[in-house]
Amino acid sequence: MIPVDRGVGMSVTPIGCPAQNPIKEHACMSDVATPSRSRFSTLYSRKAQALPDAPRMAAAKGTPPRISFIYGFPDAASLPGQQVAEATARAMGHSADKALQYGGVLGVPVLIDELLAKLKADQKIEAEPENVIITSGASQAVELIMEALLDRGDIVLAEQPTWSGFNVGVNNMGGVVVPIAIDEQGTDVDLLEAELTRYRDAGTPAKFIYVIPNFQNPTGVTMTLARRKRIIELAEAFDTLIMEDDAYFDLRYEGDFLPTIYSMDPNQRTIYLGTFSKIMGAGMRLGWAVAPPELITKLSILKMEGGSGIFASYVAAEWVPKHLTGHIAELRTIYRQRRDIMLAALERHMPDGATWTRPDGGFFIWVTLPEGLNANELVTMSRERGVDFLPGSACYAGPGGENTLRLSFSFATDEQIPEGIEILGQIISDELREQGR
Ligand SMILES: Cc1ncc(COP(=O)(O)O)c(C=O)c1O
Repeated sequence: MIPVDRGVGMSVTPIGCPAQNPIKEHACMSDVATPSRSRFSTLYSRKAQALPDAPRMAAAKGTPPRISFIYGFPDAASLPGQQVAEATARAMGHSADKALQYGGVLGVPVLIDELLAKLKADQKIEAEPENVIITSGASQAVELIMEALLDRGDIVLAEQPTWSGFNVGVNNMGGVVVPIAIDEQGTDVDLLEAELTRYRDAGTPAKFIYVIPNFQNPTGVTMTLARRKRIIELAEAFDTLIMEDDAYFDLRYEGDFLPTIYSMDPNQRTIYLGTFSKIMGAGMRLGWAVAPPELITKLSILKMEGGSGIFASYVAAEWVPKHLTGHIAELRTIYRQRRDIMLAALERHMPDGATWTRPDGGFFIWVTLPEGLNANELVTMSRERGVDFLPGSACYAGPGGENTLRLSFSFATDEQIPEGIEILGQIISDELREQGR
Protein backbone atom coordinates (compact mmCIF):
# COMPACT_ATOMS: atom_id res chain seq x y z
CA MET A 1 0.00 0.00 0.00
CA ILE A 2 1.40 3.34 -1.01
CA PRO A 3 0.97 5.91 1.71
CA VAL A 4 -1.91 8.23 0.92
CA ASP A 5 -0.51 11.14 2.75
CA ARG A 6 -2.49 14.08 1.50
CA GLY A 7 -6.18 14.61 1.43
CA VAL A 8 -8.79 17.17 0.57
CA GLY A 9 -8.50 20.24 2.68
CA MET A 10 -5.01 19.34 3.74
CA SER A 11 -2.27 21.73 2.94
CA VAL A 12 -0.76 21.31 -0.49
CA THR A 13 2.61 22.64 -1.42
CA PRO A 14 2.42 24.45 -4.71
CA ILE A 15 5.87 24.73 -6.17
CA GLY A 16 5.40 27.61 -8.52
CA CYS A 17 4.06 31.06 -7.84
CA PRO A 18 0.28 30.99 -7.56
CA ALA A 19 0.10 34.66 -8.43
CA GLN A 20 -3.41 34.47 -9.80
CA ASN A 21 -4.44 31.69 -7.50
CA PRO A 22 -6.81 32.55 -4.67
CA ILE A 23 -6.01 29.28 -2.91
CA LYS A 24 -2.59 30.57 -2.04
CA GLU A 25 -1.42 28.35 0.76
CA HIS A 26 2.31 28.81 0.48
CA ALA A 27 4.67 31.52 -0.52
CA CYS A 28 5.95 30.76 -3.97
CA MET A 29 9.60 30.17 -4.72
CA SER A 30 9.92 33.42 -6.62
CA ASP A 31 8.57 35.32 -3.62
CA VAL A 32 11.07 33.88 -1.22
CA ALA A 33 14.09 33.40 -3.46
CA THR A 34 17.13 35.36 -2.51
CA PRO A 35 18.47 37.19 -5.54
CA SER A 36 21.35 35.42 -7.18
CA ARG A 37 24.77 36.81 -6.22
CA SER A 38 26.24 35.82 -9.56
CA ARG A 39 27.65 38.54 -11.81
CA PHE A 40 24.78 37.85 -14.21
CA SER A 41 22.09 38.31 -11.58
CA THR A 42 20.70 41.48 -13.12
CA LEU A 43 20.41 39.70 -16.44
CA TYR A 44 18.61 36.58 -15.27
CA SER A 45 14.86 36.33 -15.72
CA ARG A 46 12.85 36.25 -12.49
CA LYS A 47 12.29 32.59 -13.25
CA ALA A 48 16.02 31.87 -13.51
CA GLN A 49 16.79 33.96 -10.42
CA ALA A 50 14.40 31.81 -8.43
CA LEU A 51 16.19 28.61 -9.41
CA PRO A 52 18.48 26.87 -6.93
CA ASP A 53 22.24 26.99 -7.54
CA ALA A 54 22.46 23.29 -8.42
CA PRO A 55 20.01 20.85 -9.99
CA ARG A 56 17.86 19.05 -7.45
CA MET A 57 19.13 15.70 -8.67
CA ALA A 58 22.71 16.82 -9.21
CA ALA A 59 25.06 13.91 -9.64
CA ALA A 60 26.97 13.30 -6.44
CA LYS A 61 30.70 13.96 -6.64
CA GLY A 62 33.26 11.16 -6.75
CA THR A 63 33.33 7.77 -8.40
CA PRO A 64 29.86 6.52 -9.25
CA PRO A 65 28.78 3.61 -7.09
CA ARG A 66 29.37 0.14 -8.44
CA ILE A 67 25.72 -0.82 -8.23
CA SER A 68 23.15 1.68 -9.44
CA PHE A 69 19.43 1.54 -8.68
CA ILE A 70 19.03 5.28 -9.11
CA TYR A 71 18.16 6.11 -12.73
CA GLY A 72 15.55 4.85 -15.17
CA PHE A 73 18.27 3.91 -17.65
CA PRO A 74 17.75 1.03 -20.08
CA ASP A 75 19.95 -2.03 -19.66
CA ALA A 76 23.30 -1.18 -21.28
CA ALA A 77 24.08 -4.66 -22.62
CA SER A 78 20.83 -4.95 -24.56
CA LEU A 79 21.10 -1.63 -26.41
CA PRO A 80 20.91 -2.62 -30.10
CA GLY A 81 24.22 -1.10 -31.23
CA GLN A 82 24.93 -3.39 -34.16
CA GLN A 83 21.37 -3.20 -35.50
CA VAL A 84 21.42 0.60 -35.24
CA ALA A 85 24.76 0.70 -37.08
CA GLU A 86 23.25 -1.33 -39.91
CA ALA A 87 20.08 0.78 -39.94
CA THR A 88 22.26 3.90 -40.09
CA ALA A 89 24.16 2.54 -43.09
CA ARG A 90 20.89 1.78 -44.87
CA ALA A 91 19.43 5.21 -44.03
CA MET A 92 22.58 6.92 -45.31
CA GLY A 93 22.48 4.79 -48.43
CA HIS A 94 19.13 6.12 -49.56
CA SER A 95 18.40 9.27 -47.55
CA ALA A 96 21.64 11.01 -46.53
CA ASP A 97 20.54 14.19 -48.30
CA LYS A 98 17.41 14.37 -46.14
CA ALA A 99 18.78 12.85 -42.90
CA LEU A 100 21.60 15.37 -42.72
CA GLN A 101 19.40 18.32 -43.62
CA TYR A 102 16.94 20.39 -41.53
CA GLY A 103 13.54 18.72 -41.45
CA GLY A 104 9.91 19.61 -40.88
CA VAL A 105 8.92 20.67 -37.37
CA LEU A 106 6.33 17.90 -36.98
CA GLY A 107 8.86 15.15 -37.65
CA VAL A 108 10.09 12.92 -40.45
CA PRO A 109 7.10 11.47 -42.33
CA VAL A 110 8.58 7.95 -42.71
CA LEU A 111 9.03 7.70 -38.94
CA ILE A 112 5.57 9.12 -38.27
CA ASP A 113 4.11 6.42 -40.55
CA GLU A 114 5.99 3.70 -38.64
CA LEU A 115 4.87 5.20 -35.34
CA LEU A 116 1.22 5.42 -36.36
CA ALA A 117 1.28 1.75 -37.41
CA LYS A 118 2.81 0.76 -34.06
CA LEU A 119 0.35 2.87 -32.05
CA LYS A 120 -2.55 1.31 -33.93
CA ALA A 121 -1.34 -2.27 -33.48
CA ASP A 122 -0.25 -2.08 -29.84
CA GLN A 123 -1.81 0.94 -28.15
CA LYS A 124 -5.03 0.70 -30.22
CA ILE A 125 -4.64 4.37 -30.97
CA GLU A 126 -6.18 5.47 -34.25
CA ALA A 127 -4.42 8.64 -35.26
CA GLU A 128 -3.53 10.56 -38.40
CA PRO A 129 -0.25 12.32 -39.17
CA GLU A 130 -1.82 15.65 -38.14
CA ASN A 131 -2.26 14.24 -34.63
CA VAL A 132 1.47 13.67 -34.12
CA ILE A 133 4.59 15.65 -33.34
CA ILE A 134 8.02 14.03 -32.92
CA THR A 135 10.00 15.60 -30.11
CA SER A 136 13.42 15.35 -28.53
CA GLY A 137 12.33 12.63 -26.10
CA ALA A 138 8.98 12.65 -24.31
CA SER A 139 10.58 15.26 -22.03
CA GLN A 140 10.42 17.89 -24.75
CA ALA A 141 6.80 17.01 -25.47
CA VAL A 142 5.99 17.58 -21.78
CA GLU A 143 7.83 20.90 -21.86
CA LEU A 144 6.06 22.11 -25.01
CA ILE A 145 2.65 21.15 -23.67
CA MET A 146 3.33 23.04 -20.47
CA GLU A 147 4.44 26.03 -22.49
CA ALA A 148 1.23 25.86 -24.49
CA LEU A 149 -1.05 25.49 -21.47
CA LEU A 150 0.50 27.13 -18.44
CA ASP A 151 0.68 30.70 -17.33
CA ARG A 152 2.36 31.65 -14.08
CA GLY A 153 0.38 30.34 -11.15
CA ASP A 154 -1.75 27.93 -13.18
CA ILE A 155 -2.88 24.73 -11.55
CA VAL A 156 -1.88 21.24 -12.65
CA LEU A 157 -3.17 18.13 -10.93
CA ALA A 158 -0.63 15.33 -10.82
CA GLU A 159 -0.08 12.03 -9.10
CA GLN A 160 2.39 12.43 -6.27
CA PRO A 161 4.87 10.91 -6.15
CA THR A 162 5.55 11.18 -9.85
CA TRP A 163 8.38 11.39 -12.39
CA SER A 164 10.68 14.02 -10.91
CA GLY A 165 11.26 15.59 -14.34
CA PHE A 166 7.59 16.50 -14.48
CA ASN A 167 7.63 18.34 -11.16
CA VAL A 168 10.75 20.22 -12.22
CA GLY A 169 9.11 21.14 -15.54
CA VAL A 170 6.01 22.62 -13.90
CA ASN A 171 8.21 24.51 -11.49
CA ASN A 172 10.25 25.94 -14.36
CA MET A 173 7.05 27.14 -16.03
CA GLY A 174 5.85 28.81 -12.84
CA GLY A 175 2.91 26.42 -12.57
CA VAL A 176 1.58 24.88 -9.39
CA VAL A 177 1.46 21.12 -8.85
CA VAL A 178 -1.49 20.06 -6.74
CA PRO A 179 -0.71 16.56 -5.50
CA ILE A 180 -3.14 13.72 -6.05
CA ALA A 181 -2.32 10.65 -4.01
CA ILE A 182 -1.82 7.33 -5.74
CA ASP A 183 -2.67 3.94 -4.26
CA GLU A 184 -2.35 0.41 -5.59
CA GLN A 185 -5.11 1.08 -8.16
CA GLY A 186 -3.52 4.26 -9.48
CA THR A 187 -4.63 7.88 -9.14
CA ASP A 188 -7.08 8.44 -6.29
CA VAL A 189 -9.97 9.59 -8.48
CA ASP A 190 -12.14 10.73 -5.57
CA LEU A 191 -9.41 13.04 -4.41
CA LEU A 192 -8.90 14.13 -8.01
CA GLU A 193 -12.58 15.05 -8.29
CA ALA A 194 -12.46 16.91 -4.98
CA GLU A 195 -9.43 18.94 -6.06
CA LEU A 196 -10.90 19.63 -9.50
CA THR A 197 -13.99 20.94 -7.75
CA ARG A 198 -12.03 22.96 -5.22
CA TYR A 199 -9.92 24.75 -7.81
CA ARG A 200 -12.81 25.29 -10.23
CA ASP A 201 -14.90 26.81 -7.43
CA ALA A 202 -11.99 29.06 -6.50
CA GLY A 203 -11.92 30.40 -10.07
CA THR A 204 -8.62 28.72 -10.96
CA PRO A 205 -9.61 25.53 -12.78
CA ALA A 206 -6.90 22.97 -13.43
CA LYS A 207 -5.24 23.25 -16.82
CA PHE A 208 -4.56 19.54 -17.05
CA ILE A 209 -4.28 16.26 -15.17
CA TYR A 210 -0.94 14.44 -15.46
CA VAL A 211 -0.95 10.64 -15.12
CA ILE A 212 1.41 7.76 -15.84
CA PRO A 213 -1.11 4.91 -16.07
CA ASN A 214 1.29 2.03 -16.73
CA PHE A 215 4.00 0.98 -14.24
CA GLN A 216 4.12 4.46 -12.90
CA ASN A 217 7.41 6.21 -12.33
CA PRO A 218 8.26 5.96 -9.43
CA THR A 219 5.79 3.57 -7.77
CA GLY A 220 5.43 0.88 -10.46
CA VAL A 221 1.64 0.99 -10.01
CA THR A 222 -0.73 0.43 -12.95
CA MET A 223 -4.01 2.33 -13.03
CA THR A 224 -7.15 0.17 -13.20
CA LEU A 225 -9.53 0.33 -16.15
CA ALA A 226 -12.28 1.81 -13.97
CA ARG A 227 -10.07 4.68 -12.88
CA ARG A 228 -8.91 5.38 -16.43
CA LYS A 229 -12.55 5.70 -17.45
CA ARG A 230 -13.32 7.92 -14.48
CA ILE A 231 -10.49 10.29 -15.37
CA ILE A 232 -11.94 10.63 -18.88
CA GLU A 233 -15.33 11.54 -17.36
CA LEU A 234 -13.76 14.01 -14.96
CA ALA A 235 -11.75 15.76 -17.68
CA GLU A 236 -14.95 16.29 -19.66
CA ALA A 237 -17.00 17.36 -16.64
CA PHE A 238 -14.36 19.87 -15.54
CA ASP A 239 -13.40 21.07 -19.02
CA THR A 240 -9.75 20.16 -18.68
CA LEU A 241 -7.14 18.01 -20.45
CA ILE A 242 -5.36 14.76 -19.59
CA MET A 243 -1.64 14.32 -20.16
CA GLU A 244 -1.19 10.55 -20.44
CA ASP A 245 2.51 9.78 -20.14
CA ASP A 246 2.97 6.19 -21.30
CA ALA A 247 6.76 5.97 -21.41
CA TYR A 248 6.74 2.33 -20.24
CA PHE A 249 3.69 0.99 -22.14
CA ASP A 250 5.51 -1.81 -24.01
CA LEU A 251 7.44 -3.08 -21.02
CA ARG A 252 4.74 -5.28 -19.48
CA TYR A 253 6.01 -8.48 -17.87
CA GLU A 254 2.73 -9.99 -16.73
CA GLY A 255 -1.01 -9.40 -16.88
CA ASP A 256 -3.11 -8.09 -19.74
CA PHE A 257 -2.52 -4.80 -21.50
CA LEU A 258 -5.09 -2.23 -20.45
CA PRO A 259 -6.59 0.22 -22.96
CA THR A 260 -4.86 3.55 -23.13
CA ILE A 261 -6.83 6.55 -21.89
CA TYR A 262 -6.35 8.16 -25.29
CA SER A 263 -7.97 5.24 -27.11
CA MET A 264 -11.03 5.35 -24.84
CA ASP A 265 -11.51 9.10 -24.69
CA PRO A 266 -14.48 10.04 -26.89
CA ASN A 267 -14.00 13.72 -26.07
CA GLN A 268 -10.46 14.01 -27.43
CA ARG A 269 -9.19 15.64 -24.26
CA THR A 270 -6.17 13.36 -23.95
CA ILE A 271 -2.62 14.08 -25.03
CA TYR A 272 -0.73 10.80 -25.36
CA LEU A 273 3.03 10.81 -24.79
CA GLY A 274 5.55 8.12 -25.61
CA THR A 275 9.23 7.60 -26.25
CA PHE A 276 11.78 5.39 -27.98
CA SER A 277 14.09 5.90 -25.00
CA LYS A 278 13.14 2.74 -23.15
CA ILE A 279 12.52 0.46 -26.14
CA MET A 280 15.31 1.43 -28.54
CA GLY A 281 17.84 3.73 -26.91
CA ALA A 282 17.59 6.87 -24.80
CA GLY A 283 20.42 8.43 -26.81
CA MET A 284 18.14 8.50 -29.86
CA ARG A 285 16.26 11.33 -28.12
CA LEU A 286 13.05 10.53 -29.95
CA GLY A 287 9.66 10.89 -28.31
CA TRP A 288 6.21 11.93 -29.41
CA ALA A 289 2.91 13.53 -28.53
CA VAL A 290 -0.42 12.47 -30.03
CA ALA A 291 -3.15 15.07 -29.63
CA PRO A 292 -5.93 16.95 -31.44
CA PRO A 293 -4.48 18.78 -34.47
CA GLU A 294 -5.13 22.26 -33.06
CA LEU A 295 -2.92 21.46 -30.08
CA ILE A 296 -0.23 19.90 -32.27
CA THR A 297 -0.18 23.11 -34.30
CA LYS A 298 0.37 25.18 -31.15
CA LEU A 299 3.21 22.89 -30.08
CA SER A 300 4.82 23.12 -33.50
CA ILE A 301 4.78 26.94 -33.39
CA LEU A 302 6.30 26.94 -29.90
CA LYS A 303 8.98 24.47 -30.95
CA MET A 304 11.86 26.76 -31.77
CA GLU A 305 14.19 23.90 -32.62
CA GLY A 306 12.30 22.96 -35.78
CA GLY A 307 12.35 19.21 -36.51
CA SER A 308 13.78 17.07 -33.68
CA GLY A 309 16.37 14.38 -34.31
CA ILE A 310 16.09 14.27 -38.09
CA PHE A 311 19.13 11.99 -38.43
CA ALA A 312 17.94 9.73 -35.61
CA SER A 313 14.46 9.64 -37.14
CA TYR A 314 15.73 8.27 -40.46
CA VAL A 315 17.71 5.65 -38.56
CA ALA A 316 14.71 4.74 -36.38
CA ALA A 317 12.47 4.51 -39.44
CA GLU A 318 14.85 1.81 -40.75
CA TRP A 319 15.23 0.00 -37.43
CA VAL A 320 11.63 0.00 -36.18
CA PRO A 321 9.91 -2.17 -38.83
CA LYS A 322 12.70 -4.76 -38.74
CA HIS A 323 13.54 -4.96 -35.07
CA LEU A 324 11.18 -3.16 -32.68
CA THR A 325 8.80 -6.03 -31.94
CA GLY A 326 11.58 -8.57 -31.42
CA HIS A 327 13.60 -6.14 -29.32
CA ILE A 328 10.64 -5.40 -27.04
CA ALA A 329 10.13 -9.16 -26.56
CA GLU A 330 13.79 -9.52 -25.55
CA LEU A 331 13.57 -6.56 -23.19
CA ARG A 332 10.50 -8.05 -21.53
CA THR A 333 12.42 -11.24 -20.78
CA ILE A 334 15.44 -9.37 -19.43
CA TYR A 335 13.49 -6.94 -17.25
CA ARG A 336 11.00 -9.53 -16.00
CA GLN A 337 13.91 -11.52 -14.66
CA ARG A 338 15.50 -8.43 -13.09
CA ARG A 339 12.24 -7.48 -11.42
CA ASP A 340 11.88 -11.00 -10.03
CA ILE A 341 15.46 -11.05 -8.79
CA MET A 342 14.96 -7.71 -7.04
CA LEU A 343 11.65 -8.78 -5.48
CA ALA A 344 13.23 -11.99 -4.17
CA ALA A 345 16.20 -10.06 -2.79
CA LEU A 346 13.91 -7.55 -1.05
CA GLU A 347 12.01 -10.45 0.50
CA ARG A 348 15.26 -11.88 1.79
CA HIS A 349 17.04 -8.76 2.99
CA MET A 350 14.54 -6.06 3.97
CA PRO A 351 13.78 -5.78 7.68
CA ASP A 352 10.28 -6.24 9.10
CA GLY A 353 8.13 -3.18 8.63
CA ALA A 354 9.47 -2.33 5.15
CA THR A 355 6.99 -2.80 2.29
CA TRP A 356 7.31 -2.50 -1.46
CA THR A 357 5.29 -2.58 -4.67
CA ARG A 358 5.21 -5.48 -7.18
CA PRO A 359 5.05 -3.86 -10.61
CA ASP A 360 3.66 -5.69 -13.63
CA GLY A 361 6.13 -3.85 -15.83
CA GLY A 362 8.34 -0.80 -16.19
CA PHE A 363 11.59 -0.13 -14.37
CA PHE A 364 10.72 0.69 -10.75
CA ILE A 365 9.94 -0.75 -7.33
CA TRP A 366 8.83 1.66 -4.60
CA VAL A 367 9.92 0.82 -1.08
CA THR A 368 8.28 2.26 2.03
CA LEU A 369 10.41 2.09 5.17
CA PRO A 370 9.05 1.99 8.71
CA GLU A 371 7.88 5.45 9.86
CA GLY A 372 10.64 7.55 11.31
CA LEU A 373 13.34 6.39 8.90
CA ASN A 374 14.51 9.00 6.43
CA ALA A 375 15.80 7.66 3.11
CA ASN A 376 17.62 10.96 2.44
CA GLU A 377 19.85 10.19 5.41
CA LEU A 378 20.73 6.76 4.04
CA VAL A 379 21.93 7.96 0.63
CA THR A 380 25.51 8.82 1.64
CA MET A 381 25.97 5.66 3.71
CA SER A 382 24.69 3.62 0.82
CA ARG A 383 26.94 5.35 -1.70
CA GLU A 384 29.96 4.73 0.50
CA ARG A 385 29.14 1.04 0.31
CA GLY A 386 28.80 1.16 -3.48
CA VAL A 387 25.04 1.38 -3.97
CA ASP A 388 22.95 4.25 -5.34
CA PHE A 389 19.18 4.68 -5.03
CA LEU A 390 16.72 7.53 -5.42
CA PRO A 391 15.21 8.87 -2.19
CA GLY A 392 11.45 8.93 -2.73
CA SER A 393 11.20 12.58 -1.67
CA ALA A 394 12.84 13.50 -5.00
CA CYS A 395 9.57 12.45 -6.65
CA TYR A 396 7.37 14.88 -4.69
CA ALA A 397 6.73 18.44 -5.75
CA GLY A 398 6.50 19.48 -2.10
CA PRO A 399 7.43 17.72 1.11
CA GLY A 400 6.61 14.04 1.45
CA GLY A 401 7.95 10.56 0.96
CA GLU A 402 10.86 10.89 3.39
CA ASN A 403 10.56 7.23 4.37
CA THR A 404 10.41 5.97 0.78
CA LEU A 405 12.87 5.06 -1.94
CA ARG A 406 12.69 4.28 -5.62
CA LEU A 407 14.71 1.32 -6.82
CA SER A 408 15.26 0.92 -10.53
CA PHE A 409 15.87 -2.69 -11.59
CA SER A 410 16.55 -1.86 -15.26
CA PHE A 411 20.21 -0.92 -15.16
CA ALA A 412 22.02 -3.05 -12.56
CA THR A 413 22.89 -6.57 -13.72
CA ASP A 414 21.28 -9.80 -12.50
CA GLU A 415 24.38 -10.43 -10.38
CA GLN A 416 24.53 -6.94 -8.90
CA ILE A 417 20.90 -6.72 -7.81
CA PRO A 418 20.99 -9.25 -4.91
CA GLU A 419 24.30 -7.83 -3.68
CA GLY A 420 23.02 -4.26 -3.78
CA ILE A 421 19.75 -5.11 -2.04
CA GLU A 422 21.63 -7.02 0.67
CA ILE A 423 23.73 -3.92 1.36
CA LEU A 424 20.63 -1.70 1.44
CA GLY A 425 18.89 -4.16 3.76
CA GLN A 426 21.85 -4.06 6.14
CA ILE A 427 21.96 -0.26 6.15
CA ILE A 428 18.24 -0.01 6.90
CA SER A 429 18.40 -2.71 9.59
CA ASP A 430 21.41 -0.98 11.22
CA GLU A 431 19.51 2.30 11.22
CA LEU A 432 16.50 0.68 12.87
CA ARG A 433 18.75 -0.93 15.49
CA GLU A 434 20.40 2.41 16.17
CA GLN A 435 16.96 3.86 16.83
CA GLY A 436 16.38 1.04 19.32
CA ARG A 437 13.74 -0.67 17.17
C1 LIG B 1 7.36 8.77 -16.95
C2 LIG B 1 8.42 9.32 -17.82
N1 LIG B 1 8.08 10.18 -18.78
C3 LIG B 1 8.99 10.71 -19.60
C4 LIG B 1 10.32 10.39 -19.48
C5 LIG B 1 11.29 11.06 -20.42
O1 LIG B 1 11.73 10.24 -21.40
P1 LIG B 1 12.57 10.75 -22.64
O2 LIG B 1 13.88 10.07 -22.55
O3 LIG B 1 11.77 10.29 -23.82
O4 LIG B 1 12.67 12.23 -22.60
C6 LIG B 1 10.74 9.51 -18.49
C7 LIG B 1 12.16 9.19 -18.34
O5 LIG B 1 12.63 8.63 -17.41
C8 LIG B 1 9.76 8.94 -17.64
O6 LIG B 1 10.07 8.09 -16.68
